Amino acid sequence: MTIQELQTHIEKSASDTSQEFKRLFHGRGGLYEGWRHLTIDSIDKILSVALYFEEESESELLEMLQKFVNESRYTTLVVQRRYLKGAPSKVLIGELDSDIYVVENGIKIKLNLLSNRNSGYFPDMKKGREFVRENAKGKRVLNLFSYTCAFSLAAKFGGASEVINVDMSKGALSTGKANHALNTIEPRGISYLPYNILKSFSSLKRKGPYDMIIIDPPTFQRGSFEATKDYEKIIKKLPQIAAKECILLSCLNSPDLDSSFIIEMIERWAPSFVFVQRLENVAEFASADEERSLKNLVFQRKI
Ligand SMILES: C[S@@+](CC[C@H](N)C(=O)[O-])C[C@H]1O[C@@H](n2cnc3c(N)ncnc32)[C@H](O)[C@@H]1O
Repeated sequence: MTIQELQTHIEKSASDTSQEFKRLFHGRGGLYEGWRHLTIDSIDKILSVALYFEEESESELLEMLQKFVNESRYTTLVVQRRYLKGAPSKVLIGELDSDIYVVENGIKIKLNLLSNRNSGYFPDMKKGREFVRENAKGKRVLNLFSYTCAFSLAAKFGGASEVINVDMSKGALSTGKANHALNTIEPRGISYLPYNILKSFSSLKRKGPYDMIIIDPPTFQRGSFEATKDYEKIIKKLPQIAAKECILLSCLNSPDLDSSFIIEMIERWAPSFVFVQRLENVAEFASADEERSLKNLVFQRKI
């Protein structure tokens, strides 16, 4: 794909002027030769670019993007160089408010584009949040590895009676709380527990049983969670904390572990859960190898 073709691609995908978050270009999926290092997101009037490694074409690319922004409805261009130490972001055009948020299906989620770590929002999980919103009505939801509580927002928008968010990061949970306030969600029935999940099953069991359980851990976080050895510790506890007809959304974002990693663990350690479906991924995040991309697996308990 040439720079000119890339420009045509983003002009087309940016043509709807919605305030909603949209990935305009997803080179990471490996479908566009020569552009695996590039993603471009539309966040209302902000065009947000991430570069994952350095390429010779970088200055030509940025020149094209600046021209594109100057001639479009976007007022801000921000570029994050993830290949540099600290993954610094630079605002090339306009200004970046410290208090910004994305809109996804009408839900507002705070966003930190200047953070050298995660921004507070994982856009590829949109279908997972849609699933939760569609299925949470009247349910007690346990949101494990809740981070900034985006699943909790989706559950409350879907009419969940209660949501228990669990994450060992107090900072992520306090953003989670702010996210609920941003959406004017009543605080009653929502809790934020700063626990290490692997060390707090007895307390989670006491607060159960849960009608819906979401497990969305990191693949590998040193000292905190390693999917290859820790995921099964959670699966083994499911029968003790789940309600009779509990819906389970089990997520895995590792390129090296496929769906069978989860399905086989459930068959072995929590056989009362029956595999229902793998959720489709967001079309804009299409990948050359779907098994290496995000897996959202739905199970339902039947006893
Ligand atoms: C991939 S993020 C979760 C994304 C989140 N579910 C969402 O929808 O945005 C991973 C989170 O797991 C948390 N985490 C990692 N190990 C943990 C552990 N052992 N106990 C609790 N939280 C943990 C991190 O603090 C981080 O917020």
